[in-house]
Amino acid sequence: MQPHQLSSGDVIADRRADYARMLEEGGEPEAAAELMEQALELVPGWAAGWYRLATYREKAGKGEAAIEAYRSTLALDPEDIFGATLKLALLGGAATPDRPPSRYVERLFDDYAARFESALVEKLDYTVPQKLAALVASTGRHYECAVDLGCGTGLLGPEIRARVSRLEGFDLSQNMLAKAAEKQVYDSLAQADLSLSPDLAGLFTDAARHRADLVTAADVLMYLGNLESVFAIVEHLAAAGADIAFSVEDVGEGDGFHLAPSLRYAHSEAYVRKLLGRHGLEILKIVKTVIRKDGGKPVAGILFLTRKSP
Ligand SMILES: C[S@@+](CC[C@H](N)C(=O)[O-])C[C@H]1O[C@@H](n2cnc3c(N)ncnc32)[C@H](O)[C@@H]1O
Repeated sequence: MQPHQLSSGDVIADRRADYARMLEEGGEPEAAAELMEQALELVPGWAAGWYRLATYREKAGKGEAAIEAYRSTLALDPEDIFGATLKLALLGGAATPDRPPSRYVERLFDDYAARFESALVEKLDYTVPQKLAALVASTGRHYECAVDLGCGTGLLGPEIRARVSRLEGFDLSQNMLAKAAEKQVYDSLAQADLSLSPDLAGLFTDAARHRADLVTAADVLMYLGNLESVFAIVEHLAAAGADIAFSVEDVGEGDGFHLAPSLRYAHSEAYVRKLLGRHGLEILKIVKTVIRKDGGKPVAGILFLTRKSP
């Protein structure tokens, strides 16, 4: 059985799980959890089932029992495509990880790709690509090679295309990249994992070192807690004098980063400033703004325009 399999492979267990879902949707998470426990007695190796049980227990206010079920999920699915590690951290059952599991983020966006633009742009007032593009435009520069990290479905591409000779996009999710390809705005698109070091991340080869005079990351760094790896990649890609524009979710006070109940990370201005200093990036502009809505509430963000020393 594959850990992410949404069916248990057992007809009776599936029937119990379906009924459990109906109970949960009807506002009875405790009863849903009980039924899910009965399903799992038949298929104890079903990781997705343990994950569902954990969420029902969590909704029923049974934190310790939820932690136990998230731990079982993780034991059956060490790659953690469900993001059980993040849930455990939020429930106090584990330390906050430095970054989310890559397989979890990849699956999240592979599943989300088809409805990403309608969900984010139309329903959640997502404006980072336009705001970041305005910051880039404020330099008045024309760029020879721009690299868009975490390009997703390519919303930033059309906003900056006119001032860029060559535009490359990288993302973890193949389905997001396929959507970006449909736009025919990027000269090249490829898979890469920004949570790895430049040599492991994919396609950031030595031959192509320091090739970019513009690097962008719109609404991406919230899927990476510790930003060391991504700034090492920026350092690898960026030519002397390159501009680097990116956004973070704003945690407010402090000098670190924080895992929010949304399962995204928020960073403080002080934390980002420290990293920029270490990687030789000078701040040209900082804009504090609402970047989108979440659960009907505005999400505060910070946009940075920075320059690598010439
Ligand atoms: C909210 S979307 C933003 C996409 C695009 N930049 C935009 O503004 O529409 C976040 C993107 O970051 C990508 N991403 C998250 N973690 C990543 C990682 N470790 N490496 C590469 N891409 C990642 C996701 O796959 C997703 O496409």
